[in-house]
Amino acid sequence: MTFGYFDDENKEYVITRPDTPLPWINYLGCQDYFGIISNTAGGYSFYRDARLRRITRYRYNNVPFDLGGRYIYLRDDESGEFWSPSWQPTRHDLENYTCRHGMGYTLIGSRYNGIAAHTNYFVPLDENLEIWQLTITNQRSKRASLSVFSSIEFCLWDAQDDATNFQRNFSIGQVEVEDGVIYHKTEYRERRDHFAYFACSGKVEAFDTQRDAFVGPYRSWDKPVALERGRLANSVAHGWAPIGAHQVKAELAPGETRQIIFVLGYHENPRDQKFDPPDSQILNKRTVKPVIAKYLDFAHVDAAFQNLRRYWNGLLGILQVDTPDVHTNRMVNIWNAYQCMATFNMSRSASFYESGIGRGLGFRDSNQDLLGFVHMVPARARERILDLAATQLPTGGAYHQYQPLTKRGNNDVGGNFNDDPHWLILGVAAYLKETGDWGILDEPVPYDNHPGSEQPLYEHLERSFKYTLDRLGPHGLPLIGRADWNDCLNLNCFSDTPGQSFQTTTNKDGKVAESVFIAGLFVLAGRELADITQRRGLTEEAKDYLAQVAKMEDTIRQHGWDGEWFLRAYDDFGRKIGSKECLEGKIFIETQGFCVLTDIGLDDGLAVKSMESVSKYLATEHGIILQQPAYSRYYLELGEISSYPPGYKENAGIFCHNNPWVMIAETRVGNGDRAHDYYSRINPSAREPISDLHRCEPYVYAQMIAGRDAPTYGEAKNSWLTGTAAWNYYAITQWILGIRTSYDGLQISPVIPKSWRGFNATRIFRGVTYHITIERAGEGNHVALKVDGVPIKGDTVPPPGDGRKEVSVKGALT
Ligand code: BGC
Ligand code: NOJ
Repeated sequence: MTFGYFDDENKEYVITRPDTPLPWINYLGCQDYFGIISNTAGGYSFYRDARLRRITRYRYNNVPFDLGGRYIYLRDDESGEFWSPSWQPTRHDLENYTCRHGMGYTLIGSRYNGIAAHTNYFVPLDENLEIWQLTITNQRSKRASLSVFSSIEFCLWDAQDDATNFQRNFSIGQVEVEDGVIYHKTEYRERRDHFAYFACSGKVEAFDTQRDAFVGPYRSWDKPVALERGRLANSVAHGWAPIGAHQVKAELAPGETRQIIFVLGYHENPRDQKFDPPDSQILNKRTVKPVIAKYLDFAHVDAAFQNLRRYWNGLLGILQVDTPDVHTNRMVNIWNAYQCMATFNMSRSASFYESGIGRGLGFRDSNQDLLGFVHMVPARARERILDLAATQLPTGGAYHQYQPLTKRGNNDVGGNFNDDPHWLILGVAAYLKETGDWGILDEPVPYDNHPGSEQPLYEHLERSFKYTLDRLGPHGLPLIGRADWNDCLNLNCFSDTPGQSFQTTTNKDGKVAESVFIAGLFVLAGRELADITQRRGLTEEAKDYLAQVAKMEDTIRQHGWDGEWFLRAYDDFGRKIGSKECLEGKIFIETQGFCVLTDIGLDDGLAVKSMESVSKYLATEHGIILQQPAYSRYYLELGEISSYPPGYKENAGIFCHNNPWVMIAETRVGNGDRAHDYYSRINPSAREPISDLHRCEPYVYAQMIAGRDAPTYGEAKNSWLTGTAAWNYYAITQWILGIRTSYDGLQISPVIPKSWRGFNATRIFRGVTYHITIERAGEGNHVALKVDGVPIKGDTVPPPGDGRKEVSVKGALT
């Protein structure tokens, strides 16, 4: 069953009924000002940091889940009836309801009683504000006398404090209203130099800024007393709950259309110019007024929207593919790339599953996210890399997270996740291959943000590598620390205290538990580092790295292989995890995927065996399960992984983040059919027909699909902010379609299904546009390339030496 359809031409998903199984959301904003918006206009906005600069209030875990948002009401002033064109919060039976989630905008509209109303919500580029562009048409045969009401609830800035510290907060709310513009200035009188505003292009008949005046006692947003009354009360909030609501009259002749624009924004004043006059307590509005005026102008808003569309077309245009599979095309060309940008902007902070008050930017996560967006925003990727590296500790270890506003490592969470540092090497390598910007390696970057500790970025990479060498366990495998990629494999934790954090409590100092996964990661990162080192002319050092890598590979073969698959780890007692000897958790996905994508076991048959075991024991119709059999009870020595009921999350859920590791691994053993089959099983677009089972948005990946041990097998959870986005994008584009960035040029090495006749692609790489056509001439994966008609050796197209900006590449697969 479906709840809408893809409109690929407009790069939109069109939802055709409002009661989707879960809120199906979109993100507004690309730079500093962001919003989350659901298909019923639920959600909230913030400036840069979802916790510390929350602009509008939002109550998580509400019923319905997405109650509270950017609500517009229409009221028929003759009958007194009122409704919301976005369905929520009044939930009238609307005709023609549609929600179009597009690239950086959401357009929600419907018709009710002959009145059609659509609102386009978007954040213009380079501005700290959002637009609600409302268009109303009277499709009745007689005049309509309507009132239009806007409404939002302001957050008192720190979302955590706002949701808890009522004894203070009910007394601090302050607003000003001038010329129909509502200014929210709580705490501006003291240490803040920022405020929010809510403006309207129509003639404001009346307003409300005190929630109780608008909603009324013992009511909610579905039946505000002000709507029943038909007139706002011009209330001015003093304490309690400041809101913004406007009332505008719209008298419409039959067939007449009216546009009204609402602008909700964030603004900062210089510290010494906060007030006007300076000795007063009145907001200085001099610099904000021109911004407001600009965006209350219809022509300007239309232009801003066109700019936004151009921006997204530009980003997505960097790679466009045309394959025989519509789901591949749609995800690569539109939605997967778009989701990669959302994970870049949000990391794991703000979604309907991440509250925006918890997690900062993860070191491991942010580095992996680079794989998915570095080609779209290389300059911002550079900045992100330098920020991440600056939080690295002198030991080479890393804070697990840093806070986006301060860019400092998060002390509450700390470090000792022993996989973390290696992801920096992989992130930097991806950046270098995309851009060729070798200069970044010489950028001075501090450790732990400590002034004076600056060393070239390259040295950070060396320390990342060395971190593991300094922390090897009894088998010569890397010690796991608090956890590796699998945050829930907590082998040193031994937690028996309810509510204690598995990840931040270390009861043992951890000199025994080892991770085969980190060993595989070390091999991959070590090879990348050796390559970079060699290219810096440091041949001896590069050799040394490769020797360490070779040694680790031997250790993996010796102590990390279980006979049919790679082991997962050794616990604190030195016992195997992920072995046929175990009662539960006999085989894990992580080491199969990661070791094989790293080419471990390619030459001696281990890789093929490992892939066969994945297919036999872990692969299901809904994707590849993390481990089998699921842990049926809590194991003190394993930690959070066994805390989840079987089939969910890391306990035998289908973790969509590491499925692509197996896809890439399958391309390494040459199995394009399987690689693409695994890709399709979790491709959200391919799962659209089972939306009633899948339940999350069909246009973006979710972190997890419930595994076959779960009662809700096939149901997705935690959509949007997940490493799944980058890894699937990387797997399909660089390994299955095989359009791969490399230091020496654009490598083209597809491993596609046998049944495909070929595919076309356009890739802009280092300023050159490559028009790629791949044709199948046989069943294998050997590619013969012609560049502008001339055959070349190997599979890497070197940059054109003669300044050509367009290159045609034809490939024959045999
Ligand atoms: C989740 C993991 C996540 C971790 C982050 C755990 O509860 O299961 O997926 O990585 O929290 O702290
Ligand atoms: C989600 C976390 O954000 C990520 O860092 C981790 O690798 C996975 N969960 C697996 O636990």
